[in-house]
Amino acid sequence: MTTDTPQLVPGLEGVPIAESAISLVNGQAGRLSYRGYSIEELTQPGVTFEEIVALLYDGDLAGAERIQEMTRELETLRALTPEQIEFARSAAKITHPMFALQAAVAALGPHDNNFEVKVDTVTQRGLALIAKTGHLVGVIAEAAAGRAYTGPKPGESHAEMMLRMITGKTPSPEHLRVMQALLILQADHSAGNASTFTSRVVTSTKAEPEAVASAAIGALSGPAHGGANEHSLRLFLEIGDPAGAEAKIERLLDDKYKIPGFGHRVYHVKDPRSKVIQVLAAEVVKPGTKEHDLYQIALTVEKVATERLGDRGLFPNVDLFSGCVFAAIGIPIDFFTPVFAASRTAGWMVNMREQWDSGNRIFRPAQVYTGSGDRAFVPVSKR
Ligand SMILES: CC(C)(COP(=O)(O)OP(=O)(O)OC[C@H]1O[C@@H](n2cnc3c(N)ncnc32)[C@H](O)[C@@H]1OP(=O)(O)O)[C@@H](O)C(=O)NCCC(=O)NCCS
Repeated sequence: MTTDTPQLVPGLEGVPIAESAISLVNGQAGRLSYRGYSIEELTQPGVTFEEIVALLYDGDLAGAERIQEMTRELETLRALTPEQIEFARSAAKITHPMFALQAAVAALGPHDNNFEVKVDTVTQRGLALIAKTGHLVGVIAEAAAGRAYTGPKPGESHAEMMLRMITGKTPSPEHLRVMQALLILQADHSAGNASTFTSRVVTSTKAEPEAVASAAIGALSGPAHGGANEHSLRLFLEIGDPAGAEAKIERLLDDKYKIPGFGHRVYHVKDPRSKVIQVLAAEVVKPGTKEHDLYQIALTVEKVATERLGDRGLFPNVDLFSGCVFAAIGIPIDFFTPVFAASRTAGWMVNMREQWDSGNRIFRPAQVYTGSGDRAFVPVSKR
């Protein structure tokens, strides 16, 4: 190997792209922690998304006063202008909620484009985006359902505002607890996942935070990443009946179909997030409901696919069961990934700050050129 012909690492597998102290994914042990605290502990009842935002930003558990301060700050920062609301509502009428969200988040950007001179506001701008993105998901959901804009109510938590605006109903304490846990569970997943890496790449160009977040939303939308939660539930709906599920899944695997919600680049055991989701499923997926049938299909997928692929290190990831839980608390299928995006905005924004704090050198990797050598141009009249 010479410096002119660098060795290609497809998908940058195993290549570190940053030093990070935010979250740790241990793919062999099946462990995820934020700032050293396990995701199982952080999703216990009583922990709020606001508390986790404080943990991610501050680096350690927040006391009651700090949690209150963060809660108040996010509540203040979530305000949107009438123009921003109208823009998001219009976008919701012409495209998938995830693309509407991407556009609406980009449209939160300022009139100037010169973030480097304002970089001391990186925390504030990041917090504002976390707060406003959740609000925008609610705005888009109301418009998509043909409902009028209601907006956040004073004192309403981030989770409650989102779930009420998305479903059009005041959430039960049970559903609210699950929404909090879902937002916490998906808030970060190390610097190397595709959307967080995207947020780092866009940050490295000194782009405005709104450009960082909207680019990351685009990366998350794909079915190989965050979009898998929507795609897995669509597959279960297509399978329809738990009784016939096993044979259908066998056929899909025979056809080399990539089951959404299964497999992972880093985890070679069952994704710890999928275990937390199953705890949540036990709380809200009630027997006799459509979601219960879908969950039975998800369990069959786990059984059949693990039998066939487990010895290759392929197991359920977070998206195999998350759709059933989203559906059980009343979130429409098109909004699974936007809710994931609202949660992951926390991780993207904390990674953005860490990227700036660590010197922010522009990402500029190499390529292995496989095209033609130098050729003489021939005018079109002579070709
Ligand atoms: C997550 C994912 C993108 C990781 O991709 P990756 O590390 O590049 O792994 P590959 O796609 O190269 O897969 C390696 C092998 O496992 C197989 N495999 C991976 N995921 C699979 C799945 N979900 N179902 C069936 N087979 C799968 C591939 O077909 C490939 O087999 P081969 O070597 O015979 O060609 C991939 O597992 C996937 O597409 N999963 C489904 C989408 C999903 O759930 N995404 C959310 C992730 S949190």
